[in-house]
Order: sequence, then C-alpha cells, then structure tokens
Amino acid sequence: MVAPAAGGGFGVGAFNVIQLEHAEAIVTGAEAAGVPVILQISENAVRYHGGLAPIGTAALAVARAAGVPVAVHLDHATERALVEEAVRLGFGSVMFDASVLPYEENVRATVDVVRLCHAAGVWVEAELGEVGGKDGVHAPGARTDPAEAAGFTARTGVDALAVAVGTSHAMLTRTASLDLDLIAALRTTVPVPLVLHGSSGASDDTLAAAVAHGMTKINIATHLNKAFTTAVRVRLAADAALVDTRAYLGDGRDAVSEEVARLLGILTVPHLV
Ligand code: G3H
Ligand code: ZN
Repeated sequence: MVAPAAGGGFGVGAFNVIQLEHAEAIVTGAEAAGVPVILQISENAVRYHGGLAPIGTAALAVARAAGVPVAVHLDHATERALVEEAVRLGFGSVMFDASVLPYEENVRATVDVVRLCHAAGVWVEAELGEVGGKDGVHAPGARTDPAEAAGFTARTGVDALAVAVGTSHAMLTRTASLDLDLIAALRTTVPVPLVLHGSSGASDDTLAAAVAHGMTKINIATHLNKAFTTAVRVRLAADAALVDTRAYLGDGRDAVSEEVARLLGILTVPHLV
C-alpha cells in the first residue's frame, strides 16, 4: 500500500484507532473516498485498553469486512513483546519507535525488530530524529539529518522511516510549519517511503505540500479525536435527557468518517511541487 504510493507521488492516510467507532468511521470514510487506508493502534491506546488483543482483533475484523484495502498497523511500539503480539495477531505492519535512544542503540534495537518482523512477512517503520509532543510537550524543532537517515535505513533494513520535519504530536491547531526543503532532501537520500507523524498540526495545504515534496504515510490522530469529541459535545448539549451511548457515539463516528473521506481526497492524489 505504501510503496506504490511513494512511487506514484501520492500519500496514504494512516489514522489512529482508540475505540471500535474509530475503526468503523475510518473504514467508512475510506470506502466513501474509494481508496486504501491504514488503521493504526498505538502503544498508548493498548495501555488504555489494558492489552492489544481486544482492540487489535476488532480492528482486524473491521479491516477484513471493508470494501477497500485496509491495513492494520501497530503504532509507536517501544516494547519488543508488543511487536511480537501484533505479529501473532496478524497485523501486517508495525512501527518500532526507539527514537528516544542514542543513534547506535536505536539502530541495534530496530535491527532486532526488523529481523523478527521480516521473518514473519511483517513490514516495519522506524523513527529517527525524534518527532516531539509524545509527552504532551510540543517540540517542533527536532530535525532528521538526511545523511544519517540514509545510513540508518541501510543498516536497519526498515521498510519506511518516520522523520522529524517540523510537526509535533497532539497539536490542537493546524498551524505547524514544515521544512519542505528538508522533506525534498530526505526524499532524495532515503530509499524507503517517508512517514509524517503529528500531522494533525498541518493544514490541508501543508499536508498537500508535504506529500508533493515526498512524504507518503501521513499519520493523523488528534485532529480526528477533535472531530469526534466536538460532535459528541454538540449532541449531549442539545439533549440533556439522552442516555443511549449509540446516539452520541454514532454522531462522533459520522463526523470522523466525513473528515477521513475529506482528508483522503487531499492526501491520495499526486500534487505537483
Ligand atoms: O502516530 C500517530 C501520529 O503521529 C498522530 O499524531 O495526533 O498529532 O495527529 P497527531
Ligand atoms: Zn506519531
């Protein structure tokens, strides 16, 4: 799904699943747009549920029933055991995030996970040049060095690389400014598809520019949670007597589905630089 997109100069949307409703909404949105999509479950979401199996199995079932190709991906795993579990459950891909470690240790830990995953036919994304905001503290200043990224890719054998180019996780406003020249330089030096994390901070135009300059897998979580929660708030505020969770969660699900379809319309077409 990601390699052909990189070859064709367009993007793939990778959206985070926390509740079952996210998975349903993302798939419905992708079906409306008529394009493939990635459902991703982060280590934080696993922690919230107390384990990967319940939400992972649900996402796999939603993916199997979809009318478009849907990948199920483990996002920001820092524990090898969690990667092993994802492989066992049937996930097609994982992101192993050792970006907090010094370069050589990141290489060592990532190589170990790549061996484990490739032996099972599972695709691996890693991260170099830590994208900020994972701890809630915005740090859009980190940047990935293109030469270091090329070396990291060659030494680890990863299938895709998450790079720091100006975004930061969990931004509530779409005001991030991306280093487009750096994206173009990374595109030239790194032989595998590039992944943009923290994409909720990027406006529609910035997302299109990021894809045009060479980003392929575009990770979006917070922006969809905002759409979900806004719709739930509106419904609850309008009806103080409402108790059926399906009514307000259904509104949240519809809002996410519409936004996913809209975003995929921007991400999955080739943009000219
Ligand atoms: O891995 C997931 C993403 O990088 C999502 O970040 O919540 O800022 O969109 P975001
Ligand atoms: Zn991320």
